[in-house]
Amino acid sequence: MARDQFADHDRRDFLRIAASGAALLGLAPFGAPAQPAGGAPLKIGMVGSGREGGALGTALVKAGHPVMFSSRHPEQLKGLVDGLGPRAQAGTVEQAIAFGDVVAIVVPYTAIEQIGKDHGAALAKKALVIDVSNPSARRDGKDLAKWVEQQGGAGLATAKLLPGAHIVRGFNAINYLKLAEDAHRPDGLVGVPIVGDDQNALATASSLIREIGFEPVVVGGLSMGKYLVPGTPLGGEHTAAEIRQIAAGLH
Ligand SMILES: NC(=O)c1ccc[n+]([C@@H]2O[C@H](COP(=O)([O-])OP(=O)(O)OC[C@H]3O[C@@H](n4cnc5c(N)ncnc54)[C@H](OP(=O)(O)O)[C@@H]3O)[C@@H](O)[C@H]2O)c1
Repeated sequence: MARDQFADHDRRDFLRIAASGAALLGLAPFGAPAQPAGGAPLKIGMVGSGREGGALGTALVKAGHPVMFSSRHPEQLKGLVDGLGPRAQAGTVEQAIAFGDVVAIVVPYTAIEQIGKDHGAALAKKALVIDVSNPSARRDGKDLAKWVEQQGGAGLATAKLLPGAHIVRGFNAINYLKLAEDAHRPDGLVGVPIVGDDQNALATASSLIREIGFEPVVVGGLSMGKYLVPGTPLGGEHTAAEIRQIAAGLH
């Protein structure tokens, strides 16, 4: 997947488009199911509600989960949450973490260190922390990229920054526009490779992924997180069978 895809659209444009799109689609309050397919709704806190976080949170609202989107400027998320109905709300990062049974971290990788310092204890108490953030030398600088590599890749690096958190990496190489476009694809579900060291967290992540219309594929522990970034063989779109085949050749 070309890295430029992540920089094509202005984030504020995305929030506006997502909000009006959700309203047009009638996702909420009437479009979302009363109960998620996987069972009881889980409260989701989104840390990062830009292009990817906004799209992922929107998919989770659509699947029937209450979602708190967050920003350092939560008032700027009004358009997004208004368009999604009563299951969506906006808050600060601290509020979203307190709200969530599950927290998704979808921020520039450089922000994770401070998030860990400020909220690490709260994040360690969550059943699942989904890490969608990718280190990028172009955006985050060569030093950060080198540090991540020295830790053994993005999975182990995030674990160092968020000690004790039940981390699952996932969605890392699925473009935010594709999250809506590829959900529930009738000609075969798109696979989502995930990695993690905690079986319960992996099970919860798998259930959420199925509910939003993709097929989860556990490809290993956090040490395999180095392959869950754009530009690796697992990047881009694959079926679950293709992911298993590709992952078998990685170590
Ligand atoms: N875009 C994609 O298609 C895509 C796909 C897969 C993975 N990713 C990964 O997802 C992450 C986000 O990408 P994006 O394209 O969604 O970026 P984006 O549109 O620029 O959004 C970034 C989000 O991070 C938040 N943020 C930034 N610094 C923060 C901090 N110190 N504390 C708390 N929140 C902070 C921003 O909130 P504020 O409102 O407070 O600025 C904003 O909500 C990146 O790591 C990227 O590699 C992106």
